[in-house]
Amino acid sequence: MKGSFPIQKFENIKTPFYYYNTALLRRTLDCIRAEIGNNSDYHLHYAVKANANPKVLNIISQAGFGADCVSGGEIQAAIDAGFHPSEIVFAGVGKSDWEINLALDHNIGQFNVESIPELEVINLLAGAKGKKARVAFRINPNVGAHTHANITTGLSENKFGIAMEDMEAVITLAQNMTNVEFTGLHFHIGSQILEMGDFVALCNRINELQERLERHHISVASINVGGGLGIDYEHPEEEPVPNFKDYFNTYRKHLRLRPGQQLHFELGRAVVGQCGSLITRVLYVKKATYKQFAIVDAGMTDLIRPALYQATHAIENLSSNEPEETYDVVGPICESSDVFAKAYDLNKCSRGHFLALRSAGAYGEIMASHYNCRELPRGYVTEDFAE
Ligand code: LLP
Repeated sequence: MKGSFPIQKFENIKTPFYYYNTALLRRTLDCIRAEIGNNSDYHLHYAVKANANPKVLNIISQAGFGADCVSGGEIQAAIDAGFHPSEIVFAGVGKSDWEINLALDHNIGQFNVESIPELEVINLLAGAKGKKARVAFRINPNVGAHTHANITTGLSENKFGIAMEDMEAVITLAQNMTNVEFTGLHFHIGSQILEMGDFVALCNRINELQERLERHHISVASINVGGGLGIDYEHPEEEPVPNFKDYFNTYRKHLRLRPGQQLHFELGRAVVGQCGSLITRVLYVKKATYKQFAIVDAGMTDLIRPALYQATHAIENLSSNEPEETYDVVGPICESSDVFAKAYDLNKCSRGHFLALRSAGAYGEIMASHYNCRELPRGYVTEDFAE
């Protein structure tokens, strides 16, 4: 056992695979509970897009959280994992009719609506079923976030949400429809955000918008601030549980909620990111003119974040305590971007060693693909290795 990995038990398992440390996941969930627990107006909807492994979802649903879904498939996965439909919210710019119907059939808690045409379709489909759909509007707050350009979402140039200037008109439209009920506002400025100032900017914007709505005598039952809290990819051991205290305190301090108003969060990465690792074996150590490569059996098809966002995942050699050497850690896929790390120091690697790519619990397994006709990696949790 090196660190918290039961590596003797990894011997008979086909690599690469994801390993989820469920003790850490439960500790993370307890910590979130402790931070929001004494405030019944705060609700956490776990963002299923980060990781929909059934065992992981089940632990999160058992802990009493709701689910934030962006597709019919995610709604089904959430229901199968035990999330209560009334605690499911459904977001996304392009909801298909079958997905809206599925959500209506399950009487989910709320649709986060991103355009007028979508609102009209929801009203129509709900009408056909004799139902009233609860809708919140995703407003694009035009607030930037200090994160990778591919994962910032709250700027006017992004495809997400309804423009602030259209907010009152859209709400009035909904209030005049028979089969939707306006419940709240929804925001999300981006992902992997570590500067609390970005969330403060969002709070300030929401305060401004709420005052505007009050001038129009529009009241809002719930505010959903999305997700986005980042994790420490460089030092997964130092901060295994993200700083939820600072995060929730930022909202407590800066967002002016009205009496009885509900505050919804949609965290994904911060809930599951640190509990997962991609476990891979070294296939070959190849010496080139100026460097050496550790060629592993996991590739960008198993964990695409480094190739797609130049993301860093700490890597550990679980099988070796020999002095460190420097490697480019690369996968077997026929793409030059199939590189997990360059010039990375690892305990000396040999064929067969297990490496762990850390902090891969979020947007890892779920983003895997079949490219190169590869099998999807499987996901195991701690309990799968119990005696
Ligand atoms: N709510 C909405 C509306 C979102 O779009 C997202 C993420 C979340 C909540 C959850 O955000 P989180 O708490 O996980 O930051 N694949 C990328 C991240 C894409 C995030 C998409 N939206 C990555 O691997 O970094």
